[in-house]
Amino acid sequence: MDVLQRALSCPKAELHVHIEGTLEPELAFALAQRNNIDFPHASIEDLRAAYDFSDLQSFLDLYYACADVLRTEADFSDLMLAYLRRAREDNVIHAEIFFDPQTHTARGVAFETVLNGLEAGAAIAQAEWGMSTRLILCFLRHLPEEDAFATLDATLPFIDRVHGFGLDSSEKGHPPSKFERVFARCRELGKKVVAHAGEEGPPAYIVEALDVLKVSRIDHGVRAIEDAALTQRLAHDQIALTVCPLSNVRLCVFKDMRQHSLPAMLAAGLRVTLNSDDPAYFGGYLGDNIRAVQAAFDLDAETWCLLFRNSFDAAFVDDEKKALWLSRVDAHMQP
Ligand code: ADE
Ligand code: ZN
Repeated sequence: MDVLQRALSCPKAELHVHIEGTLEPELAFALAQRNNIDFPHASIEDLRAAYDFSDLQSFLDLYYACADVLRTEADFSDLMLAYLRRAREDNVIHAEIFFDPQTHTARGVAFETVLNGLEAGAAIAQAEWGMSTRLILCFLRHLPEEDAFATLDATLPFIDRVHGFGLDSSEKGHPPSKFERVFARCRELGKKVVAHAGEEGPPAYIVEALDVLKVSRIDHGVRAIEDAALTQRLAHDQIALTVCPLSNVRLCVFKDMRQHSLPAMLAAGLRVTLNSDDPAYFGGYLGDNIRAVQAAFDLDAETWCLLFRNSFDAAFVDDEKKALWLSRVDAHMQP
């Protein structure tokens, strides 16, 4: 088996995927029809043609608009199950999945509807295929911290069903420190916290996410490499970075895959994990990211093994589960 085939067939964890970003045009049209929504795109092809982004905001505008087709528990369940069915084809056995409740509650969809639906889809995948999932609630950083607090309050009756909290949406101009108090509250509740930082924003936002929000992982963090002291710190502390290569190219963080900072991050000893971010919008799922990275950088089996180990190592699961999964990666990648 060549290196790529071995990498593709290895058991994997995905730690950075937005469930709203897994909404394929086919499902969006089907849900629009089911919910009697006048969807502002003429056809599936027309919608796909709109997936031509110049930066993060140009993507987010379409991503939030498309989320309008998600209305009922069944919609969220179908969305979750479709993602997990597709992720399973890439041998994903564990997924930590972001969701953006503010995108839905602002449209009058109850928080409980979103949570019940996502859990129902995940329960089917667990029962049918033994897939393991975690839900991470993301606060939208373009909104005020008061809105994040209101979202957290609405979550309290269901707090045991949310595994962690994150921070996403428009990065520039919305530094992590804007959410210092609400993240402190999440940590007081005993939850793990993560934050998107250093995707489009400067390395200083990664430092803030670590020092002010006290995150366990950095989402993206691809601009860390611009700051030598930060790079050294991330390497020393082995802070996991959930890198999403196709996303970074589609959102013009890098001109093309060969310009991506991944090789420099690996060379610096950073704990990199590979992920798909918003696979329906960015040209592919985890396997597609692996193919694109391999085409650009021709990584060896040892590096792939390290990348897959990093994901399980950084997962929010107990040590026993982690050890079992790590042994499966080792057995697959080092036969
Ligand atoms: N929400 C969904 N995808 C995102 C990304 N790549 N960055 C920030 N917020 C997001
Ligand atoms: Zn993301």
